[in-house]
Amino acid sequence: MSDNLLNFRVATIEDAGPLKELIQAAFRAEDSREGWVGLADLAAGFTMDVNEVKERISNPSSEVLVASDSDNKYLGCVGVSKHDENMARVSWLAVDQNSHRGGIGRKVLEHAEEYSRQTWGVKVIGLNALSARGPLIEWYGRRGYKKTGELSPFPVAAVNGRALPEGLCFVEMEKEVQ
Ligand SMILES: CC(C)(COP(=O)(O)OP(=O)(O)OC[C@H]1O[C@@H](n2cnc3c(N)ncnc32)[C@H](O)[C@@H]1OP(=O)(O)O)[C@@H](O)C(=O)NCCC(=O)NCCS
Repeated sequence: MSDNLLNFRVATIEDAGPLKELIQAAFRAEDSREGWVGLADLAAGFTMDVNEVKERISNPSSEVLVASDSDNKYLGCVGVSKHDENMARVSWLAVDQNSHRGGIGRKVLEHAEEYSRQTWGVKVIGLNALSARGPLIEWYGRRGYKKTGELSPFPVAAVNGRALPEGLCFVEMEKEVQ
């Protein structure tokens, strides 16, 4: 599938290394928009495990979708997984750090929704975003996602004792895609 500038495909195991780098660099990228990144030092230390990417690619209930340009340069990616008969979940939405704010993220997210709807017949897409990232949560809102009211815990153990703001968590959001 292509979108003038973007070619979409399902990642294979050979993509795992470059995708790990893309995701890690995108999450670590600085951004002048207040609150977009949330906690800058937390984002700067974000690490991605290549084995997690491999596992997502090999698992029959999930995929990583890749967006590239006509020279096959990786521009973005997104993880999709079938949660149940009704719902798929989206994660690891990431755009090449030098291509942010160009509309790629919106297109990659739309592709993830369409892929999940067509492949698994789901009617709802779920995702979450860090509670400290207000503008990103609003961005998902403009893409049609609504807060479900549920909050998921932040994995405190993963940040080696760093002091975190009270109440830091993931805000759960959903969108109907039927
Ligand atoms: C989140 C992410 C994927 C978005 O990708 P992107 O290609 O930059 O997104 P888009 O260009 O489609 O949208 C950027 C938004 O910022 C807005 N924007 C652009 N320049 C801006 C500026 N100077 N000031 C304020 N907003 C601005 C755009 O208007 C757009 O919002 P809109 O489409 O509602 O109008 C990207 O920032 C990323 O890779 N971040 C790191 C990984 C991450 O945080 N993933 C999400 C985890 S939940």
